[in-house]
Amino acid sequence: MAHVRNLKGLVGIVTGGASGLGRATVERLVRQGASAVILDLPKSEGKTVAESLGEKCAFSPTDVTSEADVKNALELARTKFGRVDVVVNCAGIAVAAKTYNLNKQLPHSLEDFQRVINVNIAGTFNVIRLAAGEMGKNDPDEDGHRGVIVNTASVAAFDGQVGQAAYSASKGGIVGMTLPIARDLAPMGIRVVTIAPGLFATPLLVGLPEKVRNFLAKQVPFPSRLGDPGEYAHLVQSIVENPMLNGEVIRLDGALRMQP
Ligand SMILES: NC(=O)c1ccc[n+]([C@@H]2O[C@H](COP(=O)([O-])OP(=O)(O)OC[C@H]3O[C@@H](n4cnc5c(N)ncnc54)[C@H](O)[C@@H]3O)[C@@H](O)[C@H]2O)c1
Repeated sequence: MAHVRNLKGLVGIVTGGASGLGRATVERLVRQGASAVILDLPKSEGKTVAESLGEKCAFSPTDVTSEADVKNALELARTKFGRVDVVVNCAGIAVAAKTYNLNKQLPHSLEDFQRVINVNIAGTFNVIRLAAGEMGKNDPDEDGHRGVIVNTASVAAFDGQVGQAAYSASKGGIVGMTLPIARDLAPMGIRVVTIAPGLFATPLLVGLPEKVRNFLAKQVPFPSRLGDPGEYAHLVQSIVENPMLNGEVIRLDGALRMQP
């Protein structure tokens, strides 16, 4: 198993790292001896989270759809920690609206649809395209390996529910670009893997009434509960450590298949 890597000493950037799945990933990276830069909105908890994790963590206020913001964040990673080895794209938003609301005689807001597509697809791609250049500067290991990118789709990419047209389309876009980007970046020694989470206990779901949370948890065949963000972070670590994982989408969902 000569080529299995280790998180120790690596440098990661995590979008959406101030909350939920991204935050759990930042915490795991730092706990395992890596350094991490949190890329999240200025109004997020990014600064507090980074301070709580000490010197191995920094916050760069970033909107993932902004070229200037992402370039600043990469610059911070380079000046503070020397390079970038791992990119984890967790920043994402959702809206819930039917394509056409018959009762209100109202079509889905085009603006909302475009905002979700822009943040989830274009934002993810913006970070990948700029970070790839940064990782390309790394000295390759004996496998020719320079870095790894982990994206976050959702099971909604495959079994989207009523009201999820925009969200499912955006996550389907992330699934669809995983293989071509892995192929594009292969000559640089950069891997690309996407995680499609099921239902995880992040601020989004923890805020729901207990009855609703219990109902959702029961939909998961086994283990019949919401996923722990630490379990998502654990998969990120496995992906980083296993060099044969590339160009693939991995469901992390306890066998959940969402109902309409
Ligand atoms: N929680 C779940 O059950 C679940 C399931 C499937 C997929 N996901 C996906 O996982 C990712 C993380 O979800 P979460 O549950 O941790 O959500 P969350 O809301 O807790 O965290 C998302 C973070 O992204 C940040 N963000 C939003 N827009 C941004 C932008 N333009 N630029 C930078 N940062 C931005 C937010 O400030 C927030 O800190 C999302 O892409 C979500 O779609 C979550």
